[in-house]
Amino acid sequence: MQFPTNLFTLLVLSLSVGRIAAQAIPTGPSVLLTNADGWATSAVRAQGGALFGGNFNLVLSAPAQIQSKAGSKSATPKPLTKPCEFNSCPAGSPAEGSDPTDGKVDAVKYGIQTVSPLYLNSTPDFVVSGVDSGNAVGAAACESGTLGAAAEAAKEGIPSAAFSGASLHPEYFNTSDPTSANSIAASLYSNLSVALVSALFNSSARPVLPAGTTLNVNFAPTSVGVAGKAKSKCATMGDFKWVFTRVVPAAKHAKDVETCGSTHLPDEETVVHSGCFAAVSVVNAHTKDDVDAATQSTVLERLKPAGLFSCFKH
Ligand SMILES: *[C@@H]1O[C@H](CO)[C@@H](O)[C@H](O)[C@H]1NC(C)=O
Ligand SMILES: *[C@@H]1O[C@H](CO)[C@@H](O)[C@H](O)[C@H]1NC(C)=O
Ligand SMILES: *[C@@H]1O[C@H](CO)[C@@H](O)[C@H](O)[C@H]1NC(C)=O
Repeated sequence: MQFPTNLFTLLVLSLSVGRIAAQAIPTGPSVLLTNADGWATSAVRAQGGALFGGNFNLVLSAPAQIQSKAGSKSATPKPLTKPCEFNSCPAGSPAEGSDPTDGKVDAVKYGIQTVSPLYLNSTPDFVVSGVDSGNAVGAAACESGTLGAAAEAAKEGIPSAAFSGASLHPEYFNTSDPTSANSIAASLYSNLSVALVSALFNSSARPVLPAGTTLNVNFAPTSVGVAGKAKSKCATMGDFKWVFTRVVPAAKHAKDVETCGSTHLPDEETVVHSGCFAAVSVVNAHTKDDVDAATQSTVLERLKPAGLFSCFKH
């Protein structure tokens, strides 16, 4: 398979997988979708379908192999020495062209600079990185390829968010069972991600996030069991409570934005380990540290009208 064709196939597939191929081309903001778990997972295809369903115009640029621990690593693209993940493309496939780049950050760079102008006629309005498998919280978020790609986009001037879900594992979309717990988690997390991105675009502020910042979003485990049976209270979108968080626990003297009667935001790791939560932290794209209270406040004010956030109770 030639890669330019492959990219096109990819685009079409992400739409048909979401069973929305018959719909008109979305008229909303354009999104570049990338995924550290690679271009062929059921999660990235679910995310594509959900974004498309949310009226986002869409292009996908993701590595041909898993890059989830790549952080912000960048490398010169080389021809692939191994087949793509799940054998979705052969060894020896050219690195130049579209998807098979050698580093996570390169996929997003390539997507912004080359793929988006080609397919969207411009740079994207937003970059969605993930939903990737496993949470990227606290100090470990720095090492995450998911956050690395979102941060790279923000550094290139494109607002972005990184999404990670506890209940996902990378699975080939072409062989995944749509009724499996993994497929349902992918669909659920995708729908949640689209709700957040839609809420950002509902605000009249542009760019939708302050320059040089990105969002690190983590979803707690779902309670969907085998054969898609809900086991307890974390199986639908409505079960998830959104919490505005920080990456690392607050130092005693530090002051976050005042919300929920406190100037200390809960940290994302504590939150996602405490129940059916979606944690949203605002991150400095250059340092991957928490941003100051004023920047947190800017983002919180933009998201407040959507009524997503709840106060976190331990
Ligand atoms: C799924 O995989 C099968 C077997 O490898 C292949 O024949 C088929 O074309 C693939 N379908 C899609 C939609 O990629
Ligand atoms: C995600 O949203 C789509 C479209 O509204 C819906 O069909 C699907 O059931 C949702 N997924 C889950 C797991 O709720
Ligand atoms: C965005 O705004 C529209 C129109 O005001 C509203 O129907 C929709 O629910 C809002 N979406 C979010 C995610 O806030």
